[in-house]
Amino acid sequence: MIERARGKVPTASLVIADFAGDLTRIGLPRFDAIVSTYALHEVSDERKLDLLAHLQTTSLAPTGTIAIGDIAFERERDRDAVRAQNIGWDHSEHYLVADLFLDRLAALGIHATYRQMSFCGGVLTIPGYSVSRQNRSVAPPPIRSA
Ligand SMILES: C[S@@+](CC[C@H](N)C(=O)[O-])C[C@H]1O[C@@H](n2cnc3c(N)ncnc32)[C@H](O)[C@@H]1O
Repeated sequence: MIERARGKVPTASLVIADFAGDLTRIGLPRFDAIVSTYALHEVSDERKLDLLAHLQTTSLAPTGTIAIGDIAFERERDRDAVRAQNIGWDHSEHYLVADLFLDRLAALGIHATYRQMSFCGGVLTIPGYSVSRQNRSVAPPPIRSA
């Protein structure tokens, strides 16, 4: 995978890391954008919160954006309705429920937004800390636009 990526983007800095483990040893620079797709469901919500808070604080430009696309639902009842369809639910994975998760992020001072993109997928967007801090003085942004 690394070789294929290097072939496509020779100038990229590529590292192999475990996002369930300690990322501090990597010493990431600050990025304008941090993007992940279909991966964070591998870890618990607690780990997601730790990871996202860490990335926003240490590795994201103040006006940057973190975008997380994954299997996700607006509300618990949406998740439960899809799970009840019994279409190959993987009980070992931790799918995001936006209205719960956004509250937990907000409790950490991180004001994220969420957009449902399909019946079982959505995008969580976290602004850089300077934007997040400005948002603190106003009502939390809407979590859904579908
Ligand atoms: C379903 S694939 C998605 C791959 C790609 N991001 C995409 O959207 O097509 C999940 C990826 O997460 C990676 N992954 C799972 N747990 C991980 C961990 N703890 N640290 C780093 N990568 C992990 C797997 O190796 C796999 O490449």
